[in-house]
Amino acid sequence: MEAALATCTLPSPRILKPKPRFRCSLPNPKPISPNSIAFKSPPPPSKSNLFTTAVSSSPTVAPTNSPPEPEPGSDSSSKKFDWYANWYPVMPICDLDKKAPHGKRVMGIDVVVWWDRNESQWKVMDDTCPHRLAPLSDGRIDQWGRLQCVYHGWCFNGKGDCKLIPQAPPDGPPVHTFKQACVAVYPSTVQHEILWFWPNSDPKYKNVLETNKPPYIPELEDPSFTKLVANRDIPYGYDVLVENLMDPAHVPYAHYGLMRVGKPKEKVDREGGKPLEITVKRLDNEGFFARQEWGYANFIAPCVYRASTEPLREEDKDSITSEKGPLKNRKLSLIFICIPVSPGRSRLIWTFPRNFGVAIDKIVPRWVFHIGQNKILDSDLHLLHVEERKILERGPENWQKACFIPTKSDALVVTFRRWFNKYSGAQVDWRGKFDPSLLPPTPPREQLFDRYWSHVENCSSCKKAHKYLNAFEVILQIVSVALIGVMAVTKQIAMSNVARSVVVVAAVLSFAASKWLSHFIYKTFHYHDYNHALV
Ligand code: FES
Ligand SMILES: [Fe+2]
Repeated sequence: MEAALATCTLPSPRILKPKPRFRCSLPNPKPISPNSIAFKSPPPPSKSNLFTTAVSSSPTVAPTNSPPEPEPGSDSSSKKFDWYANWYPVMPICDLDKKAPHGKRVMGIDVVVWWDRNESQWKVMDDTCPHRLAPLSDGRIDQWGRLQCVYHGWCFNGKGDCKLIPQAPPDGPPVHTFKQACVAVYPSTVQHEILWFWPNSDPKYKNVLETNKPPYIPELEDPSFTKLVANRDIPYGYDVLVENLMDPAHVPYAHYGLMRVGKPKEKVDREGGKPLEITVKRLDNEGFFARQEWGYANFIAPCVYRASTEPLREEDKDSITSEKGPLKNRKLSLIFICIPVSPGRSRLIWTFPRNFGVAIDKIVPRWVFHIGQNKILDSDLHLLHVEERKILERGPENWQKACFIPTKSDALVVTFRRWFNKYSGAQVDWRGKFDPSLLPPTPPREQLFDRYWSHVENCSSCKKAHKYLNAFEVILQIVSVALIGVMAVTKQIAMSNVARSVVVVAAVLSFAASKWLSHFIYKTFHYHDYNHALV
């Protein structure tokens, strides 16, 4: 199984000026040219394999495991991808608190998410108070269920109408009804227990849900599947996040010891890397579909990557997938929802629906699963954070020139880069809000790997566990001190040696347990470094 699953509430974006871009000077004289992954006109597509071997011009390299080169049969048009004509996930519903407004950035847009109890709906609105531009997400829900800006008390309903300006004299003009006092509301909907929003508040999109819906993933609506969900802010950008999740070949190495991976028949190293068979079947501006060793892969642009034992469309099914015996009915998907936040920052929502081992998810609390999943995200976090900066130095549009891609195991990554280049000019459309050639500075390692602000604070399960475990740690410390106190008080009075020993041992054990718990809390909820050389 593949895929890495991480962030930081990193310091607010001080911007780093990149070094001048330069061409790649990798040791191989000529990596695959961008043309080698461009679609060509006939020969007609082979049903079984839309990739052919791209021959490197390097005299020293003779790849035998076909680097990916899509052939025709896929999309030949170059209709640009419209980033503002798509739904974007904001947060899983289970991680939103109805009692408080939440501030989120998606596609560079700052939104406030809050529960409108008058309409019994989640609302997504511009996170800016029309009065003096204070963030509404720092506000509160008042006793009438309105969103109150806590700077001067203006209140808004779920339609964005201002309902109260406390400073306006009652006998003066009704300034709260003025258009300028309103907050922009974005269309939003809940699908698959995730809140989605349409990144355009123009009233003409008010009913966009009637004609355009978020991507539908059938197993997320199937009651026979278990589907715990999680989210984490990530300190690298959208494109690096997507390509990493599409890259099964890195799993035995970057996540060594953290994930179960199939062992190859002949091991070439301790980790167990091997050639991978991946075939891209279809690519257009809405994404692509591919066949891989254990199932199918769909990229539904711009956010959803789904790897599954089942195809999304029945007509994509082929006979190779059918497992024999009792495993035949075991269905598993890896769903990764990758959200562009701003250059160098993204957010990941993930869930692994499956129709077996369902009971365990009902017994074990969600935060326990998040320990391992966060570790997986951390274990390649630094690699990707640095890689993103190197891609930027060379220019994202030159990715194919900068990287040497001689094997088919990178087919999904290459296809995603192809989609990103061809349909979006190798960048997210930030609508001029950011300079895409600039990334935030790299913070100190402990901040880069921060788990608290990137996950715990945004995860209802981890947040609760963090609170209770901290309380338990304090209780253990109190017990330890209390037992020492008992010893001191009873020093003068009769106490058998056995009883005295029991009290001492209990005090030491309580103290040791509190220390262990403190370490556990720090590593689980705050910072867990990862050193690949030592695993
Ligand atoms: S800035 Fe919001 S009420 Fe003044
Ligand atoms: Fe969590």
